[in-house]
Amino acid sequence: MQPTNYAYVRGQVLPLAQATLHISDLSIQRGYGVFDYFRVFGNTPVFLDDYLQRFHASAAALHLQLPISDEELRAVIEEVIDKNSMPRSGMKMILTGGYSANGYEPADPSLVILQQPLTLPGLELVEKGIKIITHEYVRELPQAKTINYTMGIRLIEEIKSRGASDVLYRQNGVVSEFPRCNLFMVREDDTVVTPAENVLLGVTRRNVLELAGRKYKTEEGTVPLDDLYRAKEVFLTSTTKRILPIVQVDGQVIGTGKPGEVTRTLLADLVKLEEEMVQSTYKV
Ligand SMILES: Cc1ncc(COP(=O)(O)O)c(C=O)c1O
Repeated sequence: MQPTNYAYVRGQVLPLAQATLHISDLSIQRGYGVFDYFRVFGNTPVFLDDYLQRFHASAAALHLQLPISDEELRAVIEEVIDKNSMPRSGMKMILTGGYSANGYEPADPSLVILQQPLTLPGLELVEKGIKIITHEYVRELPQAKTINYTMGIRLIEEIKSRGASDVLYRQNGVVSEFPRCNLFMVREDDTVVTPAENVLLGVTRRNVLELAGRKYKTEEGTVPLDDLYRAKEVFLTSTTKRILPIVQVDGQVIGTGKPGEVTRTLLADLVKLEEEMVQSTYKV
């Protein structure tokens, strides 16, 4: 039998069919809200502390307050995980402006927690790498994980029509991030560089920077688009993709046109770190 999928909505854990928000919710009325997303291995959330910390920071940026304590939130996450029994998955925590009386002013925030199956990129994609395009844009509140993905979603058709898999934002010749991922480049001397400004501080970005620091020089700074075109290697990072090599930017071939050694080394190191993390938090 398929396990029933449960979600938490405004104080209750409910079967998915009943897990709904009222149309007065400010997420529907004005797109006002934040969220975060972490992976679950078996029944263990991975790097949960980091995601909770960022969720709080995003909420604070929108002047939203979580309606429950962290302890209660962790208990709800555990309950949903236990009920769903979904081994390879991701969990989304969404906090919105709540049921607004006039469709504009925030009310008691709505907290929603849901779990979805997750498939990580297959070996084929990791061995081949992806092509990306760039687009002039900076998110309104780059440090916050808001629910506003208007630009990214609006660009889906263009990305496809240009034979690419994703879009990298740039402004005045400097690149920042993807709609859902962070960017890294590897210079000729193997220095691993990632943009410092106008980016969401990704949890994967932080882990990759730490792992890279054990083997290579690392730098958080300005990444001009021209430097990116000339980089030895380029890759993206995110919770749902881990590390994906990028072999073409705006039609320009990167390095040898194949995923590079530094990228592959860091991916192997990241997979190992995740496994260690799961083992160290696994409850017996
Ligand atoms: C704008 C943006 N940048 C970067 C990321 C990657 O962050 P993380 O590695 O924590 O998933 C995300 C994640 O969804 C994102 O929305």
